[in-house]
Amino acid sequence: MQTTGVILIREIQKVIPTRRQLEGGGFPVRRPFPMSEVPDPFLLLDEMGPVDWPPNRALGAPPHPHRGFETVTYLLQGNMQHADSAGNSGDLNPGDVQWMTAGSGVIHSELPHPDFLAAGGTSHGFQIWVNLPSKDKMMAPRYQDIPKANIPVAQSEDGLTWVKVVAGACLGVSAVIDTVQPVHYLHFRMEPGAQHQQHVPENFNGLVYCFAGAFWAGTKCTQIKNGSVGLLSAGDALGLGVDESAEENAEFLLLAGEPTHEPIARWGPFVMNTQEEIMQAVEDYQNGTLVQ
Ligand code: CO
Repeated sequence: MQTTGVILIREIQKVIPTRRQLEGGGFPVRRPFPMSEVPDPFLLLDEMGPVDWPPNRALGAPPHPHRGFETVTYLLQGNMQHADSAGNSGDLNPGDVQWMTAGSGVIHSELPHPDFLAAGGTSHGFQIWVNLPSKDKMMAPRYQDIPKANIPVAQSEDGLTWVKVVAGACLGVSAVIDTVQPVHYLHFRMEPGAQHQQHVPENFNGLVYCFAGAFWAGTKCTQIKNGSVGLLSAGDALGLGVDESAEENAEFLLLAGEPTHEPIARWGPFVMNTQEEIMQAVEDYQNGTLVQ
């Protein structure tokens, strides 16, 4: 398509509310999709908490496998610790991101940090799953653990729009994370009266997910409230803003990515292209060869 000099404005084509459920042994999450509506290449979006844990009660996810996609954990509050069967381990503190490419296979745990577990406290964050194209599904696993200090932040000239650039680019600021599938992952905080036009590459699918306040998107100023997802129509630019009369800031994620356009076969923690590949993953897990 010839688009030189023409901006194709994206709109919100559908608003989807959140479903609350328990994950990872009882961790409360807001999951805004029926799985079938998650736009390719995304597979899952969980808002973990916010939840206030009493001492010695915080839950996490004990050891479990993954194959064929990436898990991205972004912590806002609380302290987590991850460890895997290959001997990798690390802490996740507020503002940190872990971009884990499961590739051919990992078995890992995602648990509250022992100190956090003992003391209790508020835990809040996001986990998204990003699909890998078939050519990369069996790539060697890799971790990108990015501390808060290394994740760039962009700010509008009027100071009303603040954006943490986890992946992609915003307001001339580019992310430091290397994604296998081209993906944008932006955390916006917009004050009342803020307006912003965000470039989203035309070949990307995209969504916005609001987790505080409310904002509008598109030329029709579709309202997206706390706990709702807005799916983006095609185009390359999205208008965003918060009403001047709003009583609180809006916070939301903008996720966009190049679709794989491939068939998805999915079973629990395995996401492949065919049922045979899923059966192979289960077999490899059972006989101890999922992890190389
Ligand atoms: Co996991």
